[in-house]
Amino acid sequence: MEVIDKLAPSILSADFARLGDEVRRVEEAGADLIHFDVMDGHFVPNISIGIPVLESLRKATRLPLDAHLMISEPEKYVERFVKAGASSVSVHSEVCSDIPKIAQLIRSAGARASIGINPETPADRVLAHADRIDMILVMSVHPGFGGQEFIPSAFEKLRYIRKELERRGLALDVEIDGGVKLDNIADVKAAGANVFVSGSGIFGHGDYAQIIDEMRRTVGRTPVDLERK
Ligand code: DX5
Ligand code: ZN
Repeated sequence: MEVIDKLAPSILSADFARLGDEVRRVEEAGADLIHFDVMDGHFVPNISIGIPVLESLRKATRLPLDAHLMISEPEKYVERFVKAGASSVSVHSEVCSDIPKIAQLIRSAGARASIGINPETPADRVLAHADRIDMILVMSVHPGFGGQEFIPSAFEKLRYIRKELERRGLALDVEIDGGVKLDNIADVKAAGANVFVSGSGIFGHGDYAQIIDEMRRTVGRTPVDLERK
């Protein structure tokens, strides 16, 4: 049961005044996905970017856009994010009363369905629906801000999730988000993650090609192995 490792720079730490350019630079540097953080000032204590920005970025890159909706009432917006060009949409389990229903909504709109869990949320909340989703997003910081420290209890959660998925024969993507950097990316992979979001760990670095290349070598793939999808 094989899952493919993917590097997903989070543009929350990019220069928003030059966003198209920043995205092209990480694309050329070998990124697999663009992680797009949406915050509503309600589910999280911060506000970021939304549908019109995603729509514009869709024209600026060939990479899949991975929308992470840190918003209340996500069911009202998921279809619009897919229509605007998101390839995958993550919604938070903490604000979904009916996970299978919203997963189906995302899938029927034409994107991959992902459910996120905050550091305090038990993995079982999402594992219960693992056969109806495409990805589990594990938060390793409290959502709302880039540049925070990785919370170590995420390792145990990742191990538990990957073990459960394997036991049930499910090859889901497991995305880790928050505080992922070159110095811990090998450990998060060993714990079971295969989609690595990194904001400040990539955009805080002067040379995107170098840091992405080092991260990729650290998780064990060379650019030649790249399987874009
Ligand atoms: C946090 C966001 C993350 C954030 C990660 O709420 O969901 O995607 O951009 O940033 P770093 O990698 O700097 O922790
Ligand atoms: Zn995110």
